[in-house]
Amino acid sequence: MNIDNQFKANKLTSIDDLSAVEIEILYEVTIEFWKILQRPNRKVPSLKDLTIANLFFEDSTRTRISFELAEKRLSADIVNFTSSSSSMKKGETLLDTSKNLLAMKIDMVVVRDRHSGTASFLSKKLGIPVINAGDGTNEHPTQSLLDLFTLWAKGLNSDNSKIILIGDVLHSRVAGSSIKLWNKIGFDYELIGPKTIQRKTWTNNPTEVGSKKTIYYSLRIQKERLNKELIPSNEEYHKFFGITSDMTVDNNIYFMHPGPINRGIEIDSLIADNPQSLILNQVEMGVALRMAILYLLGQKKWG
Ligand code: CP
Repeated sequence: MNIDNQFKANKLTSIDDLSAVEIEILYEVTIEFWKILQRPNRKVPSLKDLTIANLFFEDSTRTRISFELAEKRLSADIVNFTSSSSSMKKGETLLDTSKNLLAMKIDMVVVRDRHSGTASFLSKKLGIPVINAGDGTNEHPTQSLLDLFTLWAKGLNSDNSKIILIGDVLHSRVAGSSIKLWNKIGFDYELIGPKTIQRKTWTNNPTEVGSKKTIYYSLRIQKERLNKELIPSNEEYHKFFGITSDMTVDNNIYFMHPGPINRGIEIDSLIADNPQSLILNQVEMGVALRMAILYLLGQKKWG
């Protein structure tokens, strides 16, 4: 496959930025980087001439560290930026801050922000590749892409599996990207959760799981975004929508969660730590997937 000709995307602000062919290329490159990550020497010089700014204006553990590791494995120069230690505290706008970074010859930006649309806004204004690391309740495309890659790596695909997405769909940017991705590649899914935290314009066509394997994907209850009246209590949510330790688990059932987990609310520890749980596989695959998207977008500098 000719990557240079067929991978035309120059940003990843949304799943909309990638065609099905580009997702296939992304996964082929991800496999290669995953193999590299199994070696004692996990570093390659692929992006040694690039400088990447990680703009994390909202808290993150997995995504921030995963991007930073991916960039280091690719030998890029990196600058890490948080609003709490910058001149944004003195009132400087996001755009002015970003333009200053650009003046210092930044080649690519990874951004997380609590406002929906930030990544797309920066992409339009800066003219360099921008990767959305989660914007408000809008999208989190690398999370959805790494989740799907995790499933494929386990041999779970649209022919043999169905995803049950459970919980706070309304506030979830992971859901925002995942539904687009699953619709694009034709993965069977169903949405489950309190009606008060679903997206009213999204259609849901429940089908029988039948002989398919079932992937229970629990979303985090987003306490920081949740209007208190939307669910009566954590205890009631857990009772009706939590994955509880009394569930019968077999080889046809898998569990996923984007993290951070609220143990005992969305999922009980016995399930989260069960061998059928893919939660840490998701984290592992995230580094390879992010190396792949950074590598592919990094090629735009020379092309
Ligand atoms: N999955 C995810 O986005 O986790 P963090 O908020 O820790 O980055």
